[in-house]
Amino acid sequence: MSLRGVKIVGVGHHAPAHVVTNVDLEQWLDTSDEWITTRTGMKRRHWASPDEATSDLALAAAQGALRYANLRPTDIDCFIVCTVTPDYYFPATACLVAARLGAKDKPAFDISIACSGFIYGLTVASGLVRSGVYPRVMLIGAETLSKILNKADRSTAILFGDGAGAVILETSEENSFLSSELGSDASRPEMLYVRSSGSRHPIDHAALDESLNLIHMQGREVFKSAVTKMISATDKALAKARLNKSDVTFLIPHQANKRIIDAAAHYLEVPSDKVVTNIHEYGNTSAASIPIALSETVHAGKIKPGNVIVFVAFGGGLSWGAVAWRWAA
Ligand code: COA
Repeated sequence: MSLRGVKIVGVGHHAPAHVVTNVDLEQWLDTSDEWITTRTGMKRRHWASPDEATSDLALAAAQGALRYANLRPTDIDCFIVCTVTPDYYFPATACLVAARLGAKDKPAFDISIACSGFIYGLTVASGLVRSGVYPRVMLIGAETLSKILNKADRSTAILFGDGAGAVILETSEENSFLSSELGSDASRPEMLYVRSSGSRHPIDHAALDESLNLIHMQGREVFKSAVTKMISATDKALAKARLNKSDVTFLIPHQANKRIIDAAAHYLEVPSDKVVTNIHEYGNTSAASIPIALSETVHAGKIKPGNVIVFVAFGGGLSWGAVAWRWAA
């Protein structure tokens, strides 16, 4: 099969209006603005209201991407939402978004791989476009992590936020997708997981009493793996694309911790003005963090045709991945 090219023709993003600052967190947690800022780089995060769900954020981001690309919902051939905070177990959040956009009868499915969601999604969506199976794909990363946060646990409550970012990929003469490197290792799922909710430990009263239906994380262990895996995934993606570190114009990493981003950027020798960070504004929005950062950077007019972007992420699973991408006109 001869592969076609793929490029991004639309970007959009959205975050809930409600902002929670570090100072707000000080009101009920034994923490401080100074601790959170120096340990994570985070200052604010957006948390959904009780009546706001993941598909609401995804829908707004998708509408933004459609406006940017000057396309109608019915022009999209397939919808993918990357999320670990779906509206429901089923139907898939992507089906809800497609229906609300009025894209009746279109294929739609979710990808669940936590903070690596957008990297896996970009790999899958690029494959669908390049193979000609679906010439135009809407790929969304959307999360409402605040809904599965233990707001009394200072080690996790400070880290996560809500938001959505969307891209539209379509067939192109030029090819933006240069390479992908994905990985996973679930030998210790308890490093970062929600213990009770699925079929292994369905939610019961005991689980609720112990907050097992909320995010649990071994932060220090996750930190070490994140730095190692983000660096090795980037190295491998660059090698597959026959690129050097010096070819990278922009690094758009998952926004988990400013210190993780700095460590990866230092190793990759990418100067700080080429490393896209918005962690101070959104915290860690899991699968949404990279498409939000990309959308903001594109809207700011910073990315030029020919620029090489490395997207890299790490998260629950454990899972990780990097994609090398050449921005097309
Ligand atoms: N405010 C104040 N103190 C806090 C705190 C908070 N919000 N959270 C933890 N602490 C305390 C700890 O209790 C500990 O106290 P102790 O020394 O008395 O036991 C101390 O700070 C150091 O804790 P530690 O966990 O070693 O801090 P750290 O420097 O590793 O930073 C994280 C904690 C969570 C910020 C960091 O480990 C991290 O970012 N990990 C990766 C998380 C991540 O990326 N997850 C998602 C992956 S997609």
